[in-house]
Amino acid sequence: MRWNFIDEYEAWAMKLSYGMVLVFFVAVIGIALLKGIDVPTCVTDFKPFDKGELIQVGPKEYQLKLLGRMWAFQPNEIVIPAGSKVTIYTTSLDVQHGFEIEGKAVNLMVIPGAVNKAEVVFNRPGEYRFVCNEFCGIGHQGMFGVFKVLPEVEYDKWKKEHGK
Ligand code: CUA
Repeated sequence: MRWNFIDEYEAWAMKLSYGMVLVFFVAVIGIALLKGIDVPTCVTDFKPFDKGELIQVGPKEYQLKLLGRMWAFQPNEIVIPAGSKVTIYTTSLDVQHGFEIEGKAVNLMVIPGAVNKAEVVFNRPGEYRFVCNEFCGIGHQGMFGVFKVLPEVEYDKWKKEHGK
């Protein structure tokens, strides 16, 4: 490219700034790929639902339809065995809510009329709380729930006790 119609220093500054944009772009994409970070997706082929539920779709594979409303999540206690992969779909019955899981890279918007999606693997047993992180009115601070990830043996026991 010929730069002789532009001041030499300005041309230098322009090249530098284009170069930096390129470096940042490559860095962001590269790190996202390396770390396996997905861009949250708004799925258009999944219809908004009005009932929240956990559906088992395979061995240690679940689909979670998570419904947000003023001021609770449905379901708000999700019991699964360690090693489970959960595909989470969120939608809202009323206003915009948020959904963030403690200790996991999941932060979705919970929007009326639209569905957002994220995939999470729970390898370690424990309790993973989740909260609404979008101010949604007077009961906002009471909008939370928990994933209870049980070791396999305990999960089988829990399952029998709850007739599942
Ligand atoms: Cu729902 Cu804040």
